[in-house]
Amino acid sequence: MTHARIAGIGSFLPEKVVTNTDLEKVMDTSDEWIQERTGIKRRHVVADDEFTSSIGVQAARRAMDDAGVGPEDIDLIIVGTCTPDKVFPSTACIIQHQLGVKGSAAFDVNAACSGFLYALDLANRYIKTGGAQTALVIGAETLSRITNWEDRGTAVLFGDGAGCVVLQASDEPGILSTHIHADGQFEELLQVRSGISVGYDKTRAGEAFIEMNGNAVFKRAVATFDAIARETVADLDGDLGDIDWFVPHQANMRIIKAAAKKLGMPMERVIATVDEHANTSGASIPLALELAVRDGRIQRGDTVLFAAFGAGFTWGSAMIKY
Ligand code: ACO
Repeated sequence: MTHARIAGIGSFLPEKVVTNTDLEKVMDTSDEWIQERTGIKRRHVVADDEFTSSIGVQAARRAMDDAGVGPEDIDLIIVGTCTPDKVFPSTACIIQHQLGVKGSAAFDVNAACSGFLYALDLANRYIKTGGAQTALVIGAETLSRITNWEDRGTAVLFGDGAGCVVLQASDEPGILSTHIHADGQFEELLQVRSGISVGYDKTRAGEAFIEMNGNAVFKRAVATFDAIARETVADLDGDLGDIDWFVPHQANMRIIKAAAKKLGMPMERVIATVDEHANTSGASIPLALELAVRDGRIQRGDTVLFAAFGAGFTWGSAMIKY
């Protein structure tokens, strides 16, 4: 049986860092409030000449180096993003060209903060069924481009970044199980109201901003992380104690801690980067995974649970043997 295994990982964060103290100077907020309510200390923000594709390319190049593969090996590129460069072509196609990959399939998936896990789920299925041998699964976001810097309720929460895994066909199990879900009835709780088809607010032409009911999203996210983790473990006839590391989507430290507590998972086994990166939506899981692999916490052979929750609502999970 063919399995899909993570053969390499890479990430990229824009150089520019915006601290909570920087935000204090431009809006009515405080470092103390942001840290207490979210755990966030700083976030990376793209420069004018950086785009979702350009940071995605950087992450992909690092992942390809890590896996020891070249452009000629790649036969599938999936980008999980809700901040694509353009309406079309897809960010995946732009990245494909910049990497010098020829002839592979390349497409984006938009599942907001669950985008990376939706992309991973798809790539895993392609590889297991023989439709691809070596895939780039990328989560890349420039959320600063849809942040309303005049809304302190959302502006403090988001950051930019990209992460990529090279997923490769293998005889050894790697991706053990994936689950993805959605419930579109919650559209109003977390959205960018403007868009191509519905149009833009006539009083703010051309603007597209994240709007959110923070409290409702918070409660739903905690409950969903718990449910998806249990679903994933049950599917493998396993036990929550089998998990060496929990790598959740990084929305808010309070959500991460509440989810870990419900799962009975000590924080020492939870990878948290939200303090340094803020919420990078589809990029947050590969960014956190990369950090924990590089600093030696996550080792080859460890069992790792990913879980994400985002606008839609969408949610997903993956259990992997790293
Ligand atoms: N600085 C200072 N005060 C603020 C700020 C700020 N940046 N933002 C809001 N406040 C004020 C509010 O105006 C309010 O003041 P009031 O009591 O005078 O009306 C007070 O702080 C409390 O506001 P709440 O919204 O009730 O604060 P809460 O504790 O719920 O924290 C937060 C808000 C951080 C957004 C929280 O609800 C949250 O994290 N929700 C989860 C949503 C999330 O993370 N979404 C990310 C995208 S979705 C995803 O990735 C899954």
